[in-house]
Order: sequence, then structure tokens, then C-alpha cells
Amino acid sequence: MDDALLTVRGITRRFGDRTILSGVDLDVAAGEAVGVVGPNGSGKSTLLRCIVGADEADSGEATLAGRVFDERLPEIRRDLAVVMDDIDFFPDLSVVEHLDLMARAHGQPDAEEIVNGVLAEVGLMEVSGQLPSTLSSGQRRRLALASAFVRPRLLLVLDEPEARLDVDGVQWLGTKLLAEKAAGRGVLLVSHDPVLVDRVCDRVVRLGPDAADG
Ligand SMILES: Nc1ncnc2c1ncn2[C@@H]1O[C@H](COP(=O)(O)OP(=O)(O)O)[C@@H](O)[C@H]1O
Ligand SMILES: [Mg+2]
Repeated sequence: MDDALLTVRGITRRFGDRTILSGVDLDVAAGEAVGVVGPNGSGKSTLLRCIVGADEADSGEATLAGRVFDERLPEIRRDLAVVMDDIDFFPDLSVVEHLDLMARAHGQPDAEEIVNGVLAEVGLMEVSGQLPSTLSSGQRRRLALASAFVRPRLLLVLDEPEARLDVDGVQWLGTKLLAEKAAGRGVLLVSHDPVLVDRVCDRVVRLGPDAADG
């Protein structure tokens, strides 16, 4: 694929004598969404962590827009928005302050306008002045997603973003991810929601015992 945004080649990860990932390859092109599915413990989160550099693979490599992943590179940090489990928020920044900081720190022009738009989209306008500790778990999930959507990005990497969202939230998320594709961005989505995967993903990579490559 010549216009691959993300290329992953031969990612292998062992913990002790257990091989969790064995030579995983995948590509995500601009404007494309690729799903990663598989049972609990099949290595989905480990794969995402190895790809974005939060964990070190035993072998293999990931490149984003032709550059080997290195979170210290400003070009990589600018292009990549990641939402994994257990995002930490600054405890003493309100929802709107948090999003404003994210947008500005990543050099987003028109930060205020973008933050207001995303707040409305994710349905957090009413609680925008509250501290993260006062939000429900679903609202915290929405804030985590909003943090990704207020910043510039070429590739979105999401680990079970539907977790703890209500029905409307999952519906909104699907629409948002389709819009990301239409805007020419890539999406790498780990999800247990077959309806969401079916709606959004162009291709699916399966991990675990039923994986095609064993
Ligand atoms: N840091 C680690 N040390 C040891 N084992 C780990 C570590 N991280 C993940 N694992 C193991 O790797 C397997 C895959 O985990 P994970 O990638 O979280 O699965 P999934 O996200 O598909 O549910 C699990 O058996 C898990 O216990
Ligand atoms: Mg996981």
C-alpha cells in the first residue's frame, strides 16, 4: 500500500516464556480504519502499546508517515492521538481547562473554538467547569476522547473507546470516527463492539487462538 500512514511489521512481544504477539503486521492508510479484535488477554492492548512506543517490542517496527515511532520526535507527537485505558487527568483542572491545555500544548490554532465545539459534541458542556473527580465514569471516558479530538492528529489509536459509554455515546463515537476517515485521518481501533467495528472499520486484524496466522 503506497499511501500507508501507519505500517507495523513483525511486532513480537514475549513476557517470560509466553509469546503474546508473534510477528504482527498491519497497515493503516490515510482515510482508513482498521479494527483489532480478539478475546481478553489476546494481546490487543500490548500491540497498541508496542506500536505507540509505550511498551518495547522484542522485535519488529512501526512507522508513522515514514518515520520510525519515537515519542520524543515532535513530528510523531504532533501526528498521533492515543486514547488508552486509565487516562490520567490533572486533578485540579476543570474539564474545559484540561481540553484547553491539550489543544494549546499541541499547537492547535483556534483552541477556544475547537474546545467549545468538541465539548458540545461529546456532551460535556454542562459539566465543563467541574473537576475530573466529580465526573461519572462514562463522562470521564468522554473527556478522554475529547482530549484526543481537540488536538491536531493524522492517526487515532483507540483502545476499547466504547467502554463505559452509553448507547448514544457509542453511536456518536461511530459517527465521529467516520468523520475522521472522511477528513483523511487513519484510525486504529481495538474494540469489543461488533456493531461499532462493522460500522467504522474497513479491515479487521484478529488476535488470539482463532487468528489466521496462528
Ligand atoms: N507488563 C506485562 N507483564 C507480563 N504480562 C503482561 C504484561 N502486559 C500484558 N501481559 C500479558 O499479556 C497478555 C495480553 O494482555 P493484553 O495485551 O492486555 O490483552 P488484551 O488487551 O487483548 O485483553 C495477557 O496475558 C497479559 O497478562
Ligand atoms: Mg486490552
